[in-house]
Amino acid sequence: MNRNILIYGGSGGIGSALARRLASAGAKVHLAGRNQDSLAALAAEIDAGYTVGDVTEPDFFPRVMDAAGERIDGLVYAVGTINLRGFQRLEAEDYLRDFQVNALGAALAVKAALKALKKSESASVVLFSSVAALNGFSFHASMGAAKGAVSGLTRSLAAELAPKIRVNAIAPSLVETPLTGKMLANEKTVDALAAFHPLKRLGTAEDIAAVAAMLLSPESGWMTGQIISVDGGRSTLAGG
Ligand SMILES: NC(=O)c1ccc[n+]([C@@H]2O[C@H](COP(=O)([O-])OP(=O)(O)OC[C@H]3O[C@@H](n4cnc5c(N)ncnc54)[C@H](OP(=O)(O)O)[C@@H]3O)[C@@H](O)[C@H]2O)c1
Repeated sequence: MNRNILIYGGSGGIGSALARRLASAGAKVHLAGRNQDSLAALAAEIDAGYTVGDVTEPDFFPRVMDAAGERIDGLVYAVGTINLRGFQRLEAEDYLRDFQVNALGAALAVKAALKALKKSESASVVLFSSVAALNGFSFHASMGAAKGAVSGLTRSLAAELAPKIRVNAIAPSLVETPLTGKMLANEKTVDALAAFHPLKRLGTAEDIAAVAAMLLSPESGWMTGQIISVDGGRSTLAGG
């Protein structure tokens, strides 16, 4: 039977790499996100369904579920912000917005999908935390707080939804995607940031999609409540 996979942020860097990988392995994919044109183009390429909307609009989640089908085997929430500012320049609205898009959106996406996930024989949820929730970095107060919330959410949901639904998160370090495009606009910066990683390069969307696909697959059927670092060794190894 085809696996039905719902991807929020499905036309983003990591979301689209994952969508292509899953579709080419035979999964039926539903994409959700903001950008009508890029969602429509990717959906046509991989024969997927899609729903356009914003995760800060509460009616988005039920609309997605109406379109995504009655049974969902995998739910991925690959939506995020990158709001890097000195602590003094961060306002309450920054924290609230980052929490809303990264953590609250993930919780609402899982809640809306619960009934459909329960219809699967091997349901798996994949959320996105960050290396910034594990290590302390300057200018990351709001991002670290929001992604720390995603890690806590992952473990709490994994406990509450076991044994029927597995819940894991990926914590990437810097990956070259549209999210980081401005930050990685010149080669010197890319080289300097790559040098902080023991594996001496930044991540690709495919590096992350490969691990997400594994977490979605029944082959990882004995994993839940894990925050998996996919980060070129940055969070755990000295010698970056
Ligand atoms: N890239 C990295 O270095 C990195 C590092 C650590 C963690 N992560 C996490 O990995 C996940 C995927 O990131 P990515 O690099 O693939 O980012 P991306 O390329 O920017 O993709 C994110 C996707 O989410 C969509 N999106 C953003 N805000 C939304 C909103 N309010 N409502 C609906 N859709 C929204 C974007 O739509 P638009 O195209 O309309 O913007 C885009 O399709 C995120 O959770 C991110 O925080 C990434």
